[in-house]
Amino acid sequence: MSDTTLVILGATGDLTQRLLMPALYRLHRLGLTKDLRILGYAMEGWSRQRFEDHIHKALKAFAPDYTAAAWKRFSQRLDYAGGQLDPNDLAKIKDKLAPATLFYMALPPSLFGPASQALGEAGFAAAPRGGWRRLVVEKPFGTDLASAEKLRAAMHTHWEESQILRIDHFLGKEATQNLMVFRFANRFLEPVWNAQHIAQVQITYAETLGVEKRAGYYDHAGALRDMLQNHLMQLFSLAAIEPLSCWDADVLRDHKVEVLRSVKPINARNVDKHAVRGQYRAGTLGRKKLAGYRSEPGIPRGSNTETFAALRLEIDNWRWQGVPFYLRSGKRLASDCSEIAVQFREVPGALPGGVKADNNWMVFRMKPEQGMHLLANAKLPGLELDGHQVTLSAPYVRDGEHEFSAYEQLLMDAIEGDRSHFLRFDEVEWAWRLLDPVLRAWQGGTPDFYAAGSEGPSTQNRLLDRGQHWRSIALPDGGTA
Ligand code: BG6
Repeated sequence: MSDTTLVILGATGDLTQRLLMPALYRLHRLGLTKDLRILGYAMEGWSRQRFEDHIHKALKAFAPDYTAAAWKRFSQRLDYAGGQLDPNDLAKIKDKLAPATLFYMALPPSLFGPASQALGEAGFAAAPRGGWRRLVVEKPFGTDLASAEKLRAAMHTHWEESQILRIDHFLGKEATQNLMVFRFANRFLEPVWNAQHIAQVQITYAETLGVEKRAGYYDHAGALRDMLQNHLMQLFSLAAIEPLSCWDADVLRDHKVEVLRSVKPINARNVDKHAVRGQYRAGTLGRKKLAGYRSEPGIPRGSNTETFAALRLEIDNWRWQGVPFYLRSGKRLASDCSEIAVQFREVPGALPGGVKADNNWMVFRMKPEQGMHLLANAKLPGLELDGHQVTLSAPYVRDGEHEFSAYEQLLMDAIEGDRSHFLRFDEVEWAWRLLDPVLRAWQGGTPDFYAAGSEGPSTQNRLLDRGQHWRSIALPDGGTA
């Protein structure tokens, strides 16, 4: 890598401390970013030393592999400049930028548009000869289709789409990337990865956490905007895409958009068949008593924001005709259990003796542990010809293998210019197109209540086809199947 500068706008904030700096520190420690200089930029008129002290404290708290020696080396890569997000102040850092520079907007979403414009007006979007300029931004990309388009227009005043790297951190997760590798690198899978053999797909992201200290943001967002429009929609499109003719960032994103465009539209008439929302009331998790959402600090007592959302999506194409994809995510649920679970259809033929075969499941688990599980039928040991379900399991990461966090993965890709795991605007756009009608339908009325620590509202069952059940979130066996 030749000299590169990473400018972090909002360098004194929470995202920088908790996620960006620990990731950059680790990459540096592993020798992957030797020529990277990091320039912090924020409103505070700090000295370089003050910024260093601030980051030092953050790494001690948030970098699991902190050592004083590695910090000493890393700290030499840091610099700081204070200023407003206006072109005149920004212009002052011009001499600190390498020909290859990326700007990371670790800023509140309301500043994404103004900051990208100010950078452009300072002349930073245009790359000097032999260099490049990139702009990194993390969700939320708008709060609906109209605001997302407005944001796009603001960012495109000075920046080309190809320079903008939109982060959805789920695309940096091992489990997400494995979904692509496992699907396309295994000959046995493709012939059965379709409606003829698959009965349903369940994508669940359950969290025991509540709204925590994010009341101000969350009460305006809700589960649909916070998790489904972006993270779960990415898992959904990756599970459903067609094989690629060549491995290229744009071809990949074309295929993902094609999936989103093929989803049967949800509208005011059919919304109840396709979407369910819930909100947690007081409840218990283990022995812990948990407050209801409306009693959480900072949440209005009469709030109707959903803390749980479930969708039924149907894809109108040859591969997936008649296969429901269920997506759900919620706060304060029974466990931190997250997975993409694919259920195969029943075997069609006669079975030996009294063997009973359950449907196979292929489960890509993200939490509590990362791994794959294939639920298959095998002979029950004994004199009789009986069957039972067994689980063939493989972890994603074995002892001694390097695991990279989503931020480490995505920062490395951003520096190297690999856009495969970043969102192109049309992905954002089509996800909003699909969900805007749901958001409109949910403007009135109240969500269905569920007890904190439960599996979510019972009304989620109305989305399912007859004979189907949601997989349990509270895993009795501690998460192996
Ligand atoms: C974030 C959401 O994008 O993703 C949070 O805003 C959610 O509400 C989080 O908790 C889940 O991601 P992870 O990687 O922390 O499990």
